[in-house]
Amino acid sequence: MKHTIGVLGAGTMGAGIAQVASQSGHAVVLVDLNKEQLDKAKSNLAKTLSKLIEKEKITDAQKNEIERGIHYSSDINDFATCGVIIEAIVEDLAVKHKVFESLEKIVAEDCILASNTSSLSIASIGGSLQKANRIIGIHFFNPAPLMPLVEVIPAVQTDQSTCDEAVDLMKSWGKTVVVCKDTPGFIVNRVARPFYGEALRIYEEGIADFTTIDWAMTEIGGFKMGPFTLMDYIGNDVNYAVTESVFQAFYYDPRFKPSFTQKRHSEAGFYGRKTGRGYYDYSEGAIIPTPTKDYALGQQIVDRILAMLINEAYDAVFMQVATAEAVDLAMTKGVNYPKGLIEWSKEIGTKEILNRLETLFSFYGEDRYRPNPLLKREVLH
Ligand SMILES: NC(=O)c1ccc[n+]([C@@H]2O[C@H](COP(=O)([O-])OP(=O)(O)OC[C@H]3O[C@@H](n4cnc5c(N)ncnc54)[C@H](O)[C@@H]3O)[C@@H](O)[C@H]2O)c1
Repeated sequence: MKHTIGVLGAGTMGAGIAQVASQSGHAVVLVDLNKEQLDKAKSNLAKTLSKLIEKEKITDAQKNEIERGIHYSSDINDFATCGVIIEAIVEDLAVKHKVFESLEKIVAEDCILASNTSSLSIASIGGSLQKANRIIGIHFFNPAPLMPLVEVIPAVQTDQSTCDEAVDLMKSWGKTVVVCKDTPGFIVNRVARPFYGEALRIYEEGIADFTTIDWAMTEIGGFKMGPFTLMDYIGNDVNYAVTESVFQAFYYDPRFKPSFTQKRHSEAGFYGRKTGRGYYDYSEGAIIPTPTKDYALGQQIVDRILAMLINEAYDAVFMQVATAEAVDLAMTKGVNYPKGLIEWSKEIGTKEILNRLETLFSFYGEDRYRPNPLLKREVLH
């Protein structure tokens, strides 16, 4: 029999996770302290499913079944019969601790307790549990029903059987699963940092403006969205917070140093699309800036950002965060990169990537550009 799935938090992520669980045939209990959030989740789901009917992806009967599968509640005691609980509440360790302590008193001993946290360690969340061998990270990407990737993160306390069960469950929901170590940013939020950070650095040095960098990365690099368009989409407040938390969690490794430009945009309330202004102006009638379509410059921008991304991918493999296959899968399925970074490095030539990094490293003299030992080893072989 399928587990009843508990989802705690009916915000952006929790609502999406509840939808996926119900679509996969589970009974779902969705709990939020805020009644308005529950109502919003319920009406948003109805709208989403109606659109799916219009597109002939689901039938009326399926819509009814998915909706009926979710029980909305403000009482965590309703989780009592759940076999798995996925927490998706506010990103605050003290709050998560309190909540997991309460959950443990309600659920069965073998109920898996999962967190969808983006930036906290799974070990720290499990730290408040009596039976921490059932804590696990199950990290979805936004929007959860559409993005295929899920990172499964066992903590040092986690039993292998908990990890195996979580992997099987996510596969049964049709997700692409990568298992990774409990390290800051897991795979995607770690490896993707230079996509934003190096683009900001190139801008800050006056090499190119936002729109030219975006043009280069899409037109020449083949990425679906340029870094500044993407940061405006994610929100500069959110993206800056992730960068800062990864930087701190890596004991201030200069590779992850945040940018003043992004901090100032965030401080000014220029969050991006959601506030009508970010790196670009989204107000009606705003003039859309035109890029300088200089292909030599564009190639230089792409070469530099890509080399930094590839270096980060090698570092994740070198530090055993995940396998090379998992890292490539994560970046293509979690953030839609046109190719896996390790595969891309082989196509371009690892020697060429190493040359780019060594040139940057010797010119700037900054640790940020130090080539990864695994990349060096690849070149020697
Ligand atoms: N937004 C993203 O793109 C994204 C992606 C992956 C992971 N995450 C992670 O998912 C989690 C949730 O993020 P979100 O963007 O959905 O947040 P959100 O603010 O949209 O939703 C959080 C919900 O939790 C509820 N809540 C807060 N405290 C609660 C409590 N004690 N008990 C019950 N409900 C409570 C709030 O009422 C709110 O509805 C965070 O840990 C975040 O790091 C977010």
